[in-house]
This record gives sequence, C-alpha cells and structure tokens, in this order.
Amino acid sequence: MPAQNHISKLTLTNFRNYAALTIDLAPGAVVFSGDNGAGKTNLLEAISFLTPGRGLRRAPYADVAREGGDGGFALHARLDGPDGQVEIGTGISGGDTAGEGGRRVRINGASARSAEDMLEWLRVVWLTPAMDALFTGPAADRRRFLDRLVLAIDPGHGQRAIDYEKAMRGRNRLLTESSRDDRWFDAIETQMAETGVAIAAARAEMVRLLAAMIDRLPDTGPFPQADIGLSGELEAEIAVAPAVDVEERFRRTLAEGRERDRAAGRTLDGPHRSDLVVRHRPKAMPAERCSTGEQ
Ligand SMILES: Nc1ncnc2c1ncn2[C@@H]1O[C@H](COP(=O)(O)OP(=O)(O)OP(=O)(O)O)[C@@H](O)[C@H]1O
Ligand SMILES: [Mg+2]
Repeated sequence: MPAQNHISKLTLTNFRNYAALTIDLAPGAVVFSGDNGAGKTNLLEAISFLTPGRGLRRAPYADVAREGGDGGFALHARLDGPDGQVEIGTGISGGDTAGEGGRRVRINGASARSAEDMLEWLRVVWLTPAMDALFTGPAADRRRFLDRLVLAIDPGHGQRAIDYEKAMRGRNRLLTESSRDDRWFDAIETQMAETGVAIAAARAEMVRLLAAMIDRLPDTGPFPQADIGLSGELEAEIAVAPAVDVEERFRRTLAEGRERDRAAGRTLDGPHRSDLVVRHRPKAMPAERCSTGEQ
C-alpha cells in the first residue's frame, strides 16, 4: 500500500543549492530546521518532484538545476514499505532543458513509461506558505490543489486532466479559427464530455471523502469544521444523476454553446471552470473572508 511507504533515503545531485546530498529518513514526521536560505524548502521541492507535475514551486527546470552545474539535475529516493524497497529516480540531463515537461523517471532502475508510474509507490500532497492565498486567490489554484488531492486517491486523474485539456485546446482552436466543421466539433466534444465527467466525478468523490473526514473532527479541536463543496454544473449533476446522462447533457451543452463560445474565443462550460467552495462552519462564513489562521 503506498500509504505505508516512506522515503528512507533521499539523494540530490545538482538540485538547487545542493551539488550532492544524501539524507537518511526515519518513518513518521520529519522536521527540517536551518538558517534562512539553508535549503529546507529546496528539500521539500525535491520530494514534490517524486510525483507527476512541476513541483511545489512550478519552476522551470532551468531554475531547478544548480547554478554552476551542467544544466541537469537528478533526484533519487529509496522507499521502504511492507512490500520491500523501491528506488525512484527522476531528473533531466544537462542540455535536456529544451524538453520542458520531459523529466525522466526510473523505477528500480528501469525507465518508466511516464511520471504517472511513480503514483503506484508514492502520493505526495503539499500545503505551503505560498499557498496562503488558496481561498482568496483565483479558482485555478484551488482546482490544482483539489486535483492533486484527487491524484492521491486516484492515479488515473492526471491522465484524464491531460486528455481533457488537450481536447479543449483542440476545440478552442476550432473556435478561434471560426471553423464550421461540425463533425470535428462532435468528435472533440464527445471526448471532452467523457473525460470532463470523469474529472467531475473523481473530484466529487474526493470532496465527499474530505467532508466525511471533517465531520469526524471534534468541534472543540484547533481546526474549525468546514463545509466544503464544488461549484460547477457537472459536479452538481454528477451527485444526482448517472454519469452517462451527465455526459450526454454536457455534450449537448457544448454543441449548443458553439456560437457563444466562438464569440468568446474559448470554451465557457466545463470542469475547467469549477471551484472548490469552503465555508467556516461555526461562523457560516466563506473561507475567503476568514482570517489566515481560520483558513
Ligand atoms: N538553481 C539554483 N542553484 C543554486 N542555488 C539555488 C538555486 N535555486 C535556489 N538556490 C538557492 O537555494 C537556497 C536555499 O533556498 P530554500 O528556499 O530552500 O531556503 P530555506 O532553507 O527554505 O530558507 P527559508 O528559511 O528562508 O525559507 C537559496 O539561498 C537560493 O539562493
Ligand atoms: Mg523556505
């Protein structure tokens, strides 16, 4: 079970301020302490690369590779768990920087098909001070946060999001080119409906699990209880209707919205517009109006 794996050894090579570092880690909570600029956040960023995506700073690889190094970087983690040890390696080699997004991944020494393969062994989520504005900032940040949580319970979510984005970019291209190729639109919209509804369903499931966890929190504890939900038509429908019906309805919404979307130059309906809605339960106040600590 990934939930029981822990990182027992972490090696960084030419990563940020580390030319070469190896640390051994015990199971359980770990605290890093050190002066400002010592490299604590860099260590967390290194761990955030042990899952698909661009890491907790969303930095280009050129910034991540150590200044004065060869332009590449490598990370290596040994995981210990009930099923034994697993070795995960990732990085880019010097001169590879043109291949943004093309970080290489090795599992037990063998090249992985994609970064998604790491999810079989390790699920990583983070909440950092830079995300202080999670509730006051743009919905896109909350969607990204939510989708990373979903990824922790459902490794297929990442590919779904990629497929949806790709289809939507294709549709947006048709819209801006003022294309009237209805069969092309139909094909793309069918794909968007399939992947879009699967995304909404996975998010709804995550929110259901989170809500159940929140309900188990004592109301006298340090964390205030919260009411959480999703705003978004698909997410609302998926809670009450079978997925096939929601899919068919979304497909129709997209088809009927072509003219309006053509005027807007982009797709206006879909899970890429949804939001995570959080309210402070005792105060019945939206999280964005609460204090930082209350959030
Ligand atoms: N590509 C890079 N090459 C070399 N050094 C880098 C690179 N990127 C960042 N650094 C350096 O890494 C150092 C450590 O940064 P980090 O954010 O990990 O510090 P920190 O320990 O979290 O500090 P704080 O307590 O202030 O948050 C910084 O001084 C920064 O200049
Ligand atoms: Mg820091």
